[in-house]
Amino acid sequence: MTAASTRQSTRILLSSPDVGSREQELVTAAIESGWIAPLGPMVDAFEERIAERCGRRHAVALSSGTAALHLGLLELGARPGTAVIVPTLTFAATANAVAYCGAEPVFVDCDPETGTLSPELLERSLSSLEQAGTPVAAVVPVDLLGRCADYTALDPVCDRFGVPVVSDAAEALGASHGSRPAGSFGAVAAFSFNGNKIMTTSGGGMLVTDDPGMAERVRYLSTQARQPAVHYEHTEIGYNYRLSNVLAALGLAQLERLDGMIARRRALRERYAELFTGVPGAQIFQRSGDEADNCWLTAVVVDSDRAGWSAEDLRKALDAADIESRPLWKPMHRQPVFTGARSYLDGSADQLFARGLTLPSGSALTEDQVATVMGTLGAFLGGHR
Ligand SMILES: Cc1ncc(COP(=O)(O)O)c(C=O)c1O
Repeated sequence: MTAASTRQSTRILLSSPDVGSREQELVTAAIESGWIAPLGPMVDAFEERIAERCGRRHAVALSSGTAALHLGLLELGARPGTAVIVPTLTFAATANAVAYCGAEPVFVDCDPETGTLSPELLERSLSSLEQAGTPVAAVVPVDLLGRCADYTALDPVCDRFGVPVVSDAAEALGASHGSRPAGSFGAVAAFSFNGNKIMTTSGGGMLVTDDPGMAERVRYLSTQARQPAVHYEHTEIGYNYRLSNVLAALGLAQLERLDGMIARRRALRERYAELFTGVPGAQIFQRSGDEADNCWLTAVVVDSDRAGWSAEDLRKALDAADIESRPLWKPMHRQPVFTGARSYLDGSADQLFARGLTLPSGSALTEDQVATVMGTLGAFLGGHR
């Protein structure tokens, strides 16, 4: 083993894959069946189960969550000359998918408590874009860290402006809002099965929708836009975005275990909440109403004036103990690649970026690892009383 790989194996990570014997069994079955292609019975079954799980009529398995966002946006008309509203507090993939379409990402700030798209600022941004004569192809609320966006408040605003919703549910499989599951909101929704997500296919994603025409078009575009002709006829540009049958097998096994993996993450959230109870200036992010969340990542938000220490002090202390933690997403309007983008801001995302730190949250963490994290946090807090 190299020093780097030793370090990799001992370091306690934020959210590593949680795979075991059931995954091995189904992947082996997929290989033995001879379906080693981006189609096959495991892909069909995986699509069916995900559609069932999130209450949608159609699901299309893709190579990533980003691919799902890209194709969903394309089909809703995102193109040069149109704008797409993206929360500024998100992972770059949400904004990148807009850029792939040649559309303009317009960044909007978040609710300070949940970090999800602010309905008030959404309204303001849509009004202002309407006045400026900019057509808006879609609004992309993000279900941040496994907390659904406030669709109850966002949907009526989008309806009033006649703009469709693409729900970025990449981080939120298994969460819900009201009585509806993540993924059931919007004209389309996107899930990610990247290696760090609540469940994984090592890399993969899914577009879900109730519109059969949308599902059919996305299937077609994701397989190089092949017309039904033996010689491969193409009338438009397509993409190689389908999920492999072998990876779908991994997904099927993970989906069987999803509720158990969510329960593990929730139990970890409870441990963190207990540890930070009564610590001045520090609170668990998105704690209020988190029964409906999938608890993908738990974060702590630190007001350093009250706490006497900062999120960065804590990050350094954890890093010194070989424990990974990471600031909340750096807002998109602060990213050099999006310099000059139109933005509607009130400082909430900036403040969460400055104060928030995500903590190890994976369902694969062993009891020993959890004890190491809690012990390190306890010692840090004890030293800052
Ligand atoms: C909010 C959000 N959107 C989109 C994505 C993209 O998913 P993927 O990595 O599967 O392309 C991710 C995760 O990576 C994400 O966290």
